[in-house]
Amino acid sequence: MRKITLAVALFLGLAYSEAVIDKPCRIKHDRPIKTVEKKRLQSVNLPETFVWNNVNGVNYLTNMKNQHIPQYCGSCWAQAATSSLSDRIKIARKAQWPDVNISPQVLLSCSSSDEGCNGGYALSGYEYMHNNNITDETCSDYRARGHTNGLDCSPIVQCKDCHPHEKCFVPDEYYVYRVDEFGELKGEDAMMQEIYQRGPIACGIAATPELHNYQGGIFEDKTGSTDINHDISVVGYGAENGTKYWVVRNSWGSSWGENGFFRVVRGTNNIMIESDCAWATPADTWTSGEKHITSQEEKNDPRNNKDNSVSPYPQDSTTSSSFLKEQTHHLGCSVKKTDLLLGEVKNRIMAWDEVKHSDLPANFDWRNVNGTNYASWTFNQHIPVYCGSCWAQASTSSLADRFNILMKDLNPTPIALNPQMIVNCRAGGSCNGGDPVGVYEYAYLHGIPDSTCVVYVAKNLDHKCTDMDICKDCKGPAPDADKDGQENCWAVTNYKRYYVSDYYSFSGAEKMKAEIYKNGPISCGIDATDKMHSYLGGIFSEAKSFPEINHIISVAGWGYDEATKTEYWIVRNSWGTYWGEKGWMRIKMHSDNLAIETDCNAAIPSYTKHSASHQSFIQ
Ligand SMILES: *[C@@H]1O[C@H](CO)[C@@H](O)[C@H](O)[C@H]1NC(C)=O
Ligand SMILES: *[C@@H]1O[C@H](CO)[C@@H](O)[C@H](O)[C@H]1NC(C)=O
Ligand SMILES: *[C@@H]1O[C@H](CO)[C@@H](O)[C@H](O)[C@H]1NC(C)=O
Repeated sequence: MRKITLAVALFLGLAYSEAVIDKPCRIKHDRPIKTVEKKRLQSVNLPETFVWNNVNGVNYLTNMKNQHIPQYCGSCWAQAATSSLSDRIKIARKAQWPDVNISPQVLLSCSSSDEGCNGGYALSGYEYMHNNNITDETCSDYRARGHTNGLDCSPIVQCKDCHPHEKCFVPDEYYVYRVDEFGELKGEDAMMQEIYQRGPIACGIAATPELHNYQGGIFEDKTGSTDINHDISVVGYGAENGTKYWVVRNSWGSSWGENGFFRVVRGTNNIMIESDCAWATPADTWTSGEKHITSQEEKNDPRNNKDNSVSPYPQDSTTSSSFLKEQTHHLGCSVKKTDLLLGEVKNRIMAWDEVKHSDLPANFDWRNVNGTNYASWTFNQHIPVYCGSCWAQASTSSLADRFNILMKDLNPTPIALNPQMIVNCRAGGSCNGGDPVGVYEYAYLHGIPDSTCVVYVAKNLDHKCTDMDICKDCKGPAPDADKDGQENCWAVTNYKRYYVSDYYSFSGAEKMKAEIYKNGPISCGIDATDKMHSYLGGIFSEAKSFPEINHIISVAGWGYDEATKTEYWIVRNSWGTYWGEKGWMRIKMHSDNLAIETDCNAAIPSYTKHSASHQSFIQ
């Protein structure tokens, strides 16, 4: 076992160093960039230690990323620019719901002065976002392709939606974001001032092979490397045993380094980290809810039909005849699974036997409990192509919320569990529909990796649940448009697993409220009607004599509307932020609510495995 691990480590070391030396993901051109600085930052007194993942108990950081999957892409520059902007939007919004995850994909396809997956420059990314609007990842998901290897800029790359049996299209309207001011900076003090006063920054570094193999602690390069080949985001600073360090967000997934971050010595320009940094402030587009209104020209733009990049999963079985046959047998993305191993595990007193109904407040919402937002990211199950994975979305998102609650919102970054891995392992179903109980059962037996292990490709793979379908990483160079790059990928096995200790089913408004209040968001079935599809906001209701469950959503709270004297549920959907109330919905409680109270599931999050006693049963 030891030997194998060593061999793998040596192989990875070699692979990494090749990638670093051959193709830096950070390319700085001589082109002058005109920065925009309205007012210079004044110096203030700085605390000894300051990291944006815990400022007086509040985590201001957005999701962790892995730029290397589903195939290698040298997008570090786009990742550094977008993650620092997303973090700064979260800071400006005082970490209130919702987190906004700005799309690096738009920069890869549309920032023509950079070279997409073949490299670029964070400052140039800021410049793009100053001159153009950008979208969130529910409009433009990460494809790890850019304009130099098959995925050119078009209206549909910037925002997309897909329905079953139809061509994908550009939504009528969607939220936009952009950069206000941006500039360059360097030097320890200027960096600390900027980070402390305004938020994370993007910096170029010399990523050495030793840094690629980093596993934790305070890194110090002794080779004297000065070749800047990588962009990262610096999110804080501190000191330990007299050693000063920077806290750095990388984009190599959460199983690398310290949960995806690293610390590096501060004050000596080690790995050139203090020599070439950039900052940007977000324009406030969220207070007024600024939206792009799509024109007919944009909808009909011929570039929307052009996607020359090869899929990493060429044989897409969602178009196979067996899929089409299956399609006719069910209504939507909710399909009851009858071959579950256990069905339920209950080791504890149920919330509804413990919480008195009369003790419950009139309003309760996990997006704002005592000022803290525990909701993980809002997702879009329908891009890059249509996939009926609602059952995997509702269960993984409510479970991710529960991990945020368990950690009092102080996870290194917000938890995002991986719905594509759930589809890959058919853990309850596929893109043709499924059952959230299967997801909870998988979490109980095996644990679920986070979203940096596999990218959501919205497809049923033809191979099922190989090690690479659960967690993988890839090395460079970025494949050409007509290559899938999979020969450079391998399975990652040291990923963190998110387990559950209990999972169970229930129904009825009283039990739902008790469970949500005591333990967190839940997943429930619903009859997604045409009217619900076209919901734009407000308290939804629809009378239907025989609602049939065809969709799964997550319920994260409830409220009471004084004006109409109506109690309602607060619902998270997985249809992107352009649907409903930023991807969410309020729906009437007790009646005319499409059967939302009839079939709910939940699970208790756990960082350790509880299923040992069922081992023999699994085999
Ligand atoms: C700091 O000192 C503590 C206690 O001796 C030790 O456990 C820790 O590893 C040290 N940290 C570093 C970065 O050397
Ligand atoms: C950004 O979007 C807003 C709202 O649609 C629009 O008014 C503005 O002109 C856009 N800005 C750029 C730079 O495209
Ligand atoms: C919110 O505050 C109330 C009152 O101080 C407290 O009882 C409750 O535990 C808090 N909830 C959370 C999730 O921290």
